[in-house]
Parts: sequence; C-alpha cells; structure tokens
Amino acid sequence: MVKRVNHEIKGWILVKVLPLWFVNLMNLFGLPRFLSDFYAWDGHTLTEVIEDLQLLLAYSWGTYGTLPSRTSFAMQALIHYHYEEVASYPIGGSSEIPYRIIPVIERSGGQVFMKATVLKILTKEGRAMGVRVGHKESSAVNIYVPIVISDAGILNTFLDLLPEEVSKTSPLWPLIDTLKSGIGLHQRFTSTAEELGLRAENLWIFTDSSSEGLGKIFDGTTLDDVLYKSYPGFFIGCHSAKDPSWERRYPGRSTITVLTFAPYSWFAQWENLSVKKRGDEYNSLKNAIGQQIIDQIIHLYPHLQNAIEFFSVGTPITNQHYLNAKAGATYGLDHGFERFSPKMVSFLRPGNRDRRIISLRTGRDVAWVGVRSAFWRSLCQRNFED
Ligand SMILES: *[C@@H]1O[C@H](CO)[C@@H](O)[C@H](O)[C@H]1NC(C)=O
Repeated sequence: MVKRVNHEIKGWILVKVLPLWFVNLMNLFGLPRFLSDFYAWDGHTLTEVIEDLQLLLAYSWGTYGTLPSRTSFAMQALIHYHYEEVASYPIGGSSEIPYRIIPVIERSGGQVFMKATVLKILTKEGRAMGVRVGHKESSAVNIYVPIVISDAGILNTFLDLLPEEVSKTSPLWPLIDTLKSGIGLHQRFTSTAEELGLRAENLWIFTDSSSEGLGKIFDGTTLDDVLYKSYPGFFIGCHSAKDPSWERRYPGRSTITVLTFAPYSWFAQWENLSVKKRGDEYNSLKNAIGQQIIDQIIHLYPHLQNAIEFFSVGTPITNQHYLNAKAGATYGLDHGFERFSPKMVSFLRPGNRDRRIISLRTGRDVAWVGVRSAFWRSLCQRNFED
C-alpha cells in the first residue's frame, strides 16, 4: 500500500498541472481515483486503514480462541507460520490418525480399548497406581499399571480424574483457568466441492470490522442479542476440497464445517441431559442459530442454497459429550498472554515435578492447540529418544 501511493504520485502531479476545467470534468466522473492509486484511500483516514490492517493481521485468533488483546504475539506468529509453511490435511480425514497409529502401539506391546471411559486415576499415598475404566461406576474395572500417562488435558486430569488432594499438590493446579467454548455446524451438499466452487481454504467471516468483534459474544451477550440477527463471525472449512481421497469415497457429495464461539451459559441448562434427549427447546435454539449462520453463508455464496442436503448443529455441550471437553472448550487451556512466559512454558511440560507420582503428558496443553504442536512434540520426542 505504501508502494502504491508512492508509485502513483503521478496522479497527484497530473491533477495539479492539467487545466482546471479538465480536472473538474474528470472529477465529475470520479476519474482521478480510478486512474491513480494515490487517491485510492480518499475518504479513509489513516486510522481506518490501520484498523483494517489490524483485522487482517489478527483475524485468525479464532484458531486458538484468545482475543488479540489477551494473547501473545508469539501465538499469532506460530499460527501465521503454520498456515504459510506447514499446514496440511490428513488424506482420508482425521480418522486416519488413530487408524495409522494403533498398529504402532500394538507392535510395541500396547493395547487400545474403544468405548473405555477412564473414570478415575487410582492413587495411593499420592502415587498413581492405575486407572478405573468402564461406562458406569457399577460395572467399572480397575487396571493396575506402573506408570499412568494422561493425555486427556490438564482440566480433565486435574478436575475429574485425580482426587482433589493429589491435584492440589501439583504446581499446575493454580493455572486451571477459564475457558472458551465453541459451537459447530456441519452441512452436507448434494454436489461436489468442485462444482460448488468450494476450495481447500479456511475462511473467517466477520460482520464487524474490528479484530475483536466476535469476542464481544463473551461480554454478557445474551441469546436474545444474537437470535434472528447476524451472527458476529464464524469459520468455514471444506474437508471435501482438502482431501484428495474424498471424491473416491463420497462421489458427488461434499461437506463444509462451520465453527464459531458461543458462551457455555447459553446451553448450560441442558448440560446433564443425554445426547439426542435434550428436548425441543434445545433443538430449536441451536437450529435457529445454525439457520441464521446458513443464511449468512448463502448471502455470500448464493449458489449453495439449492445444494444443501443436510445440516446438523452442535453446541458447547455437544463438545463436552463427544470430546470430553470441559464446558465445551475444545481448545483446552486458554492461550492467554501469560501462557507464553518462560515460567509458564517451563511449568507446562510433560511429566510432573515428581515423575514417580504421576507422569502427565497433557496433550495440547503442553504446547498449544492444533496440529502444529503435535508435529512439534513428535520432533521433540524423536530427539529425546535418539
Ligand atoms: C448438572 O450436574 C452437576 C453435577 O451433579 C451439577 O453441579 C449441575 O448443577 C447440574 N446442572 C444443571 C443445569 O442441573
């Protein structure tokens, strides 16, 4: 933009030296602005242009869920680099990750259990002895092991799995923080991504030009404030376009996933009801928000309208149910500024201070949310083992 102004200074000179009657005529048709970028920002103050730049540089904060005013520049720099250099999509979808890794675990003498909820980490005098596993307490079994490694995240591990008196002895205990929760929408289309012009890209759509507009939803916004009004922002990703194996597996179909933020409190009254049994009021509420977002998408991409075959809407309680994400917070620990200080970085490490008590590998909470941190960990691990 700086270059455009300076390269186009001839536009400024022309308007200054051409006969006034001619310039007046040009002005009548708005030609100077059209002919020279020197006038491209006419009508916009420096502050307005800088605010647009702020949005462009910080808009992707939703990827880790902490507002620009609360996170560290380091976090944003990691995300920018991720998208420019290393972002990737697993061919076949995310189910490929367990599918490929389970044989590795089994080759090393391990076993993998499905639908085996860990109810508790068993402890004795502050030492981990094993895990209690089962669907309900009445039919659970104890499995005794020498080392327990929890990758359920810091919150599940400290708040649910360990007895509180053991959790409290950890230096991580004071870090248990407030979290953000999400709402998700899945839409299925009757045409291929290619036909619909859906590309392998991630989009963030905002109704507000400030980089923190979507974050205002956590400042006491009530359901009445958002229902039947434009939702302040959301993310769109199209797996079908990203996955080269999609067309073979689901010929003639495509999907998009839409993600946004929503306070847990909007849905908390249904938190203890089981999935698909939360009643009409819950369903019509979540579908009203979903439909509103669909309307906004169709406004931007009108050709999608007739191709929608199916959509389903999830809420923070959906995340809590399927992902065991406390308060629906799928990103784990908050990515606040403090998390990037040397002290905190050193605290959030795999393993407890006293490794004999509990070895904690707390998944994403050790590094930061997302796939990049998993790559990072696998690199560390390799170096460590070498
Ligand atoms: C759900 O259950 C928990 C634990 O029993 C309780 O603390 C919470 O208040 C319940 N929520 C509602 C909305 O009833």
